Parts: sequence; structure tokens; C-alpha cells
Amino acid sequence: MEERRARDRAPDENRPSLRAADLHKSFGEKVVLDGLSFSVAGGESLVIVGPSGTGKSVLLKHLIGLIKPDSGKVYVAGEDLWALSHVERNNVRKKFGMSFQEGALFDSMSVFDNIAFPLRRSGRPPGEVRDRVHECLEIVHLENVDEKRPSELSGGMRRRVGFARAISHEPEILLFDEPNTGLDPIMTDIIDEVILEMREKLKPTIVTITHHVESAKKIGDRMALLAGGKILYDAPPEEFLHAKDPAVRQFVEGKAKGPLTQEMEMSVR
Ligand SMILES: Nc1ncnc2c1ncn2[C@@H]1O[C@H](COP(=O)(O)OP(=O)(O)OP(=O)(O)O)[C@@H](O)[C@H]1O
Ligand SMILES: [Mg+2]
Repeated sequence: MEERRARDRAPDENRPSLRAADLHKSFGEKVVLDGLSFSVAGGESLVIVGPSGTGKSVLLKHLIGLIKPDSGKVYVAGEDLWALSHVERNNVRKKFGMSFQEGALFDSMSVFDNIAFPLRRSGRPPGEVRDRVHECLEIVHLENVDEKRPSELSGGMRRRVGFARAISHEPEILLFDEPNTGLDPIMTDIIDEVILEMREKLKPTIVTITHHVESAKKIGDRMALLAGGKILYDAPPEEFLHAKDPAVRQFVEGKAKGPLTQEMEMSVR
């Protein structure tokens, strides 16, 4: 069977686009985003890669409006996120589903209630909530964990619950922060397949951070390298992986020496 590739599908004008325009963000002395710009068309899937500590998670939190940039703009479906009122911004956030790198599950709630949270917030009736939570648990191959607290689960199980919570309300925009880090190869592939199936069914706009090149090739229309607070390279996966750019080469080949390391050394000085 021919391998399904995300990029064979055209972007969907009916889905929200995302755009970051000249984002700057520092924490104290530490400059994390330094004039970062990119855009994702409605229904498109962008994969972001980059060295550890370079600002990938911080960028994702900007896209959903959890972090406010020092300067620059974030546009969701053409709307300037920080020009909106608090209520309007919260409504825009409901378009999103996000799985966080560190899980960010509600520890005081059961697994069931965690996954039910976005469904209840969007006003689904109880019977529908129950069915959809069970469907999502099945999707991520978790059984008999409904009543457990997140703290009773393994790290990989928590990650899968976080993923299930992100997709449960079938949002128009999905942000995945390392959805398959720390999972075994079979589960990694299952997560990729779920992302592909969601694309086929709902055509959401997706931004995924991953270190898995195979995942990136499978689920991404484009791959972007984030380093030094900017997007250094942005291209379809095959083109990205064969690019001659020295920073891309260092990242793809996993070399200790190269422009990305020099930059990291500079940034800790
Ligand atoms: N809330 C915060 N307060 C202060 N510094 C922060 C905060 N969040 C992130 N940082 C800093 O911003 C930088 C980028 O962090 P971020 O988590 O985005 O990296 P990352 O690219 O996702 O790394 P990794 O691949 O390890 O997940 C780091 O130096 C981090 O210490
Ligand atoms: Mg991160």
C-alpha cells in the first residue's frame, strides 16, 4: 500500500490560518524569540524542529495565546490575538486543542474528566461526552484508566491522555508539543496515524513539534527549523531533509559540531 503522505492534500481555506509576525520574547536577560515570523495556511500541517531549549514550546504557547509576546503579532484566522478582548481571545482559544510537552493534565481530576474537559466546555451533552471520551481512550490504546488520576500513570500514558484531551473536541487547530517523545516505536506510529486520520476527516490546521524525522516526513506538509529565536529554514520535508544549509545539515545529521552548537555556546555566555 502506498504510504499516505500529508502533503498530498491541499490546504483548506475554510480552516483557520496561523501567522506569527516578528515575534520577540525574552525572559529576563534571555532572548528566546528574536523576530520570529512564519505562517501556516488553513488545513496545513507544519512540523517544527530545533535544538533543545531553543524556544519551540514557548512559540507554541504564543500561538494559543498563553504567552504574550514582548512585541510582534500572532494572527489566528487573520485576527490579531492581542487586539481582542479577554472574552474574544478565550473564544478563539476554543478553536484549539493542544497537547503539552509536560502533560499539563489536571492532577485533581480523573483521566475521564481530563479528556471530558474540552467536550463539556463546548457544551456537549453527557452521553456524547462519555462516548467520545471512551472513543479517545481507545484511539490512544488506553484501557481501564478512566477513574485513575494522572499521577497514577506512567509518563508515556500521561502523554497519551494529553493527546486524547487535545483531540477530543475535534478542534479546528491542533498544536502538539512532542506528542510521541518517550513513547515506544509502535505507539509513536499510532500517534502519527491518528494525526493523519484527523487530517483526512477534519482537515485541521496543525503545528507539531517533534524530534522524530520519520514522523515529520509523515505528518508534515512543511518542516521548519527554529534556532536563534528565528525560523532558519522552512520547506517541504523531502526538500528540508536534503537542504545544503549548514544548520539544517547539522540538525538532520545530529552532529555535535556546527552552527547550531556555536549559537548555543554564545547564548550561555
Ligand atoms: N516561563 C518561563 N520563564 C522563564 N524562562 C522560560 C519560561 N519558559 C521558557 N523559558 C526559557 O525559554 C527557553 C526556551 O524554552 P522552551 O521550553 O521553549 O525550549 P524548547 O525548544 O521547547 O526545548 P526542548 O526541546 O527541550 O523542549 C529556555 O531557555 C527556557 O528556560
Ligand atoms: Mg519544548
